[in-house]
Amino acid sequence: MNEPVTARPIRSFVLRQGRFSDAQERACAELLPRLGIPASPSIVDFDVLFGRRAPRILEIGFGMGDSLAATAAVYPDNDFIGIEVHLPGVGSLLRQLDEAQLANVRVIRHDAVEVLERMIAPDSLAQINLFFPDPWPKKRHHKRRIVQPDLVRLMASRLQAGGVLHMATDWADYADHMLEVVNAEPMLENTAGGFAERPATRPLTRFERRGIALGHAVHDLILRRRAPAAKQPETSPASH
Ligand SMILES: C[S@@+](CC[C@H](N)C(=O)[O-])C[C@H]1O[C@@H](n2cnc3c(N)ncnc32)[C@H](O)[C@@H]1O
Repeated sequence: MNEPVTARPIRSFVLRQGRFSDAQERACAELLPRLGIPASPSIVDFDVLFGRRAPRILEIGFGMGDSLAATAAVYPDNDFIGIEVHLPGVGSLLRQLDEAQLANVRVIRHDAVEVLERMIAPDSLAQINLFFPDPWPKKRHHKRRIVQPDLVRLMASRLQAGGVLHMATDWADYADHMLEVVNAEPMLENTAGGFAERPATRPLTRFERRGIALGHAVHDLILRRRAPAAKQPETSPASH
């Protein structure tokens, strides 16, 4: 099990034991050495790791991994990096990868904020997905919500120009907060102007189904990383 590289004061998760089935435990023991990437304080060379250069899609907080495994099966020409702290979820994804014999997914069991900061090169990802982050509904817990200006800037910095940040939530006040934060980030362009329709390429997730059963409306946000502004040519004094 990977331990955090350093202590951070406020985290977006509380590690809970949860139910860890025998199959999930076995999957972690047998498959993590092959499909897991240990947390590290330095940038990972994913070309070496996957043995090819392909568009890379990162999913933060994949839960039980159903939607990540389903998407990876549909897009074998893309590579997927899943980050999740909840061990039973990691085991669940690993089992699905094994059953479907998917070779285009790797898993990092660690705090996504630290992974983005330390292990992912700037300007390197084709897409980042953050689906149904923990809502932390009580007001005094809102500081634990993972979507904050610093994290959005960090995610934007890890995308290639033209890369996509896709977020979704079924909590109305969190959706409004996310919209406000992304609209204030100059590196990102909101492709829909506001909330977006769920694209057919995004399968329904477990948490989403639960939210829908409770009568929650789902909001998607699809942002594109802007190309860096071209440097203005320096004008020589003689040209004045
Ligand atoms: C509400 S669940 C949603 C799971 C899944 N995306 C879905 O829609 O079914 C949020 C997940 O994010 C994970 N998580 C929260 N903060 C995280 C962090 N900083 N790094 C990695 N995983 C995190 C939690 O363990 C949890 O499994």
